[in-house]
Amino acid sequence: MKVHSITDHIFAIHADIRSEDLFEGIWPIPYGVSLNSYLVKGDRIALIDLVRDWVGAPGELAGQLAAAGTSISDIDLLVLNHLEPDHTGWLGEFLELNRKAVIVTTSKGADLVGNFYFEAERIAVVKDGDKIDLGQGQVLQFFETPNVHWPETMMTYVSDGGVLFSCDGFGSFGALGDRVFDDEFSPEEHEFFEGESLRYYANIVASFGLFVKRAIDKLSGLDIRVVAPSHGIIWRSEPSVIIERYLRYAGYLDGQREKEIAVIWGSMYGNTEAGLQYVLEGIEEEGVPYTLHRVPNEDVSWILADAYKCEGIVIAMPTYEYKMFPPMAYVLDIFDRKHVWYRKALRIGSFGWVGGAKKEYEAKTAPLKWENLEAVEWAGAPDADTAELLRARGRELARKVKEA
Ligand SMILES: Cc1cc2nc3c(=O)[nH]c(=O)nc-3n(C[C@H](O)[C@H](O)[C@H](O)COP(=O)(O)O)c2cc1C
Ligand SMILES: [Fe+2]
Ligand SMILES: [Fe+2]
Repeated sequence: MKVHSITDHIFAIHADIRSEDLFEGIWPIPYGVSLNSYLVKGDRIALIDLVRDWVGAPGELAGQLAAAGTSISDIDLLVLNHLEPDHTGWLGEFLELNRKAVIVTTSKGADLVGNFYFEAERIAVVKDGDKIDLGQGQVLQFFETPNVHWPETMMTYVSDGGVLFSCDGFGSFGALGDRVFDDEFSPEEHEFFEGESLRYYANIVASFGLFVKRAIDKLSGLDIRVVAPSHGIIWRSEPSVIIERYLRYAGYLDGQREKEIAVIWGSMYGNTEAGLQYVLEGIEEEGVPYTLHRVPNEDVSWILADAYKCEGIVIAMPTYEYKMFPPMAYVLDIFDRKHVWYRKALRIGSFGWVGGAKKEYEAKTAPLKWENLEAVEWAGAPDADTAELLRARGRELARKVKEA
């Protein structure tokens, strides 16, 4: 098994998870996800972040530790930057196999070790700025970065090599294969991982954009030469790329978004779909890019990722039993939870006899603080007047997106 050296003392270990399982039980991972751990060897040996017993990850970890000339039982310190079970699920077994290792975590992390794994003895609590010297110039320094994305989260830094172990921060979906470093991937592969890092951010971290900004601010004084996250590419050539990318993502919450439109639509019999075509014509006349997402056919994971970056949103759906088309209600619920705020939005849709989507839509989008254009609803199929109105609203939305 291959292990990747970051410095003479620091090694990257990773397990690629390829599974039908949903990440966090919600988010599809058709391209897999990597679980990254790191080995820091001084006179004492630290392992940074663990794995869950998931698709052979513990075996992968043990094999790669052996390739780095060590083993589970040699580990002196187990640094747990974050207690989510994707990085800690195998802790009970680890502690059985290794009777000496001490867990290093924040005080909130210690509480969670107790809650999940009933372990209260072998824990060393660290605070912001604390250091642990492993010898041979390898000093671990800890920075609390609460709420990225759990409250106990911290990041670990080693100044020899300037390596930041950022856990979920700067992470991405997507399995890595045999390569782990940013300079080992082609521009096309980077484009793929950029999509997967946006999806990871929007799905996992988006609710905590403010804390992402705070964390990046806190770390700004460090000489970061390598960003080593717990999922995805390790950035040793251009670490600023992923830091700036995360800053951009965090800014989507309340700052500048992409001048694009996420068009989310559902239709039972094609009447809403027919009306939507006129809106798209209007958007095209103004030259604003858009992406179509049909519900419930497309998983909300991708819809959320696109909506998260877009300034404009179209919600197109028919009335269904005096309310919204049901899968759209789920999408808006996710948008609320993930803080898809302050967008320019247009709602359109067909009804049969009286409508009713309006009231529920307004209630569901009130917390999102969207600037809604006047909605367009019509009975049955769209007639020529409706078509003209829809086209005009499409243009209006596109103009607002351009001006934002
Ligand atoms: C299950 C179901 C429930 C519906 N409920 C309503 C309703 O409460 N109010 C209404 O005006 N029309 C209702 N309709 C009619 C649709 O809104 C209407 O057929 C509309 O044109 C469908 O648009 P679509 O072709 O885009 O699916 C319902 C239709 C179906 C199939
Ligand atoms: Fe996490
Ligand atoms: Fe994670």
